[in-house]
Amino acid sequence: MSGTLNLSAGRSYLAIPGPSVIPDQVLQAMHRPSPNIYAGELVDMTATLIPDLRRVARTKHHAAIYICNGHGAWEAALSNVLQPGDKVLVPSSGRFAIGWSEMAEGLGIDVEVIDFGNHAPWDLARVAERLKADTSHQIKAVLGVHVDTSSSIRNDVPGLRAVLDAEQHPALLMADCIASLGCDRFEMDDWGVDVMVTGSQKGLMVPAGLAFVFFNDKAATVRAAMPRVSRYWDWTPRANPEEFYQYFGGTAPTHHLYGLRVSLDMIHAEGIENVWARHAQLARAIWAACEAWGQDGPMAMNVTDPALRSHAVTALRLGGSRATQLREWLEQTLGLTLGIGLGMAPPCSPEWHGFFRLGHMGHLNGHMVMGLLGGIEAGLRALDIPHGAGALDAAAAVLSEAGQKAS
Ligand SMILES: Cc1ncc(COP(=O)(O)O)c(C=O)c1O
Repeated sequence: MSGTLNLSAGRSYLAIPGPSVIPDQVLQAMHRPSPNIYAGELVDMTATLIPDLRRVARTKHHAAIYICNGHGAWEAALSNVLQPGDKVLVPSSGRFAIGWSEMAEGLGIDVEVIDFGNHAPWDLARVAERLKADTSHQIKAVLGVHVDTSSSIRNDVPGLRAVLDAEQHPALLMADCIASLGCDRFEMDDWGVDVMVTGSQKGLMVPAGLAFVFFNDKAATVRAAMPRVSRYWDWTPRANPEEFYQYFGGTAPTHHLYGLRVSLDMIHAEGIENVWARHAQLARAIWAACEAWGQDGPMAMNVTDPALRSHAVTALRLGGSRATQLREWLEQTLGLTLGIGLGMAPPCSPEWHGFFRLGHMGHLNGHMVMGLLGGIEAGLRALDIPHGAGALDAAAAVLSEAGQKAS
């Protein structure tokens, strides 16, 4: 044997908060020659995706598909209901809310951010105050990121709806569920969300490249009154296509659609409520380990209140340059990739190297979580990073509790 011992052969594990692990069934469904895009199986199969997408979003309303990433979904949603000069309010709990607000600015929209920082959820009393002051209803939409993937804060979307209702404010409620859909409970219709955006690469377990905009009749009415909407972003023909190409504004994303068909089948076979419960329990196991490590060392979760934590991603701090060291050691030595910290410090500043994130979204089970945590435990030891004992025990205890409940 020469050089350092390397244990990274075998299947690698990407534990970043999106793209997530792609199930073999999805990959296999995508591994095929290009299908005919004018007639036949693909055309028939695409029509079946729409009701199943609606089921995951918990909406009876409209769905439009775009060939793009989440940034595209942001722009698509904004382009259909807002004109240059319109005002939007953006309560922010992290980098992705700021990102959506910047996208709106680029479209000439007048953006007002209420910044709650990287550690706190929306303060709904402050949002209510701002809406109350808007007596002439200048604010046309409130843009809310349900789970901000940078901070791992989960915001109270039904609470935001309640605030709009209490103030009798007509602004559209637009939600970013790019990190939360298929991981954390989200109920578009019951929660009164008018427009929701998401992407394929996280809870939906399909490679990046598809995005979805769901909208209700109120949003459709706003769209109908718009003087002009970009032909490409217009959701109307996509949601009500007269010809197949209109679903996508052009050539269909052929292989992604086959992958999506399988991923939706997997979600429905498990049941969306069970998918949420699985994410919740696996997240609790991860938090239990992180808490134990933090008892006697520098590791700390960004969100202290478990009720405010996402079930799909956990943002952590290790301080110094330890997070980068840990990530690099795990990737190179064990074949395990953790997420970089986002939005907590300027990129590549000395502080930036102290933050990291764990992705636990989508195609994930108990043994993967134990592998993830066991890998981190090994990395902390190898790098002499101080940490509390009992993390794996604590995580196993949470998982065993789930087994007891099920039997
Ligand atoms: C909550 C949230 N919104 C928006 C985005 C942007 O999506 P994309 O990187 O696919 O453009 C992401 C990506 O991680 C996200 O997590």
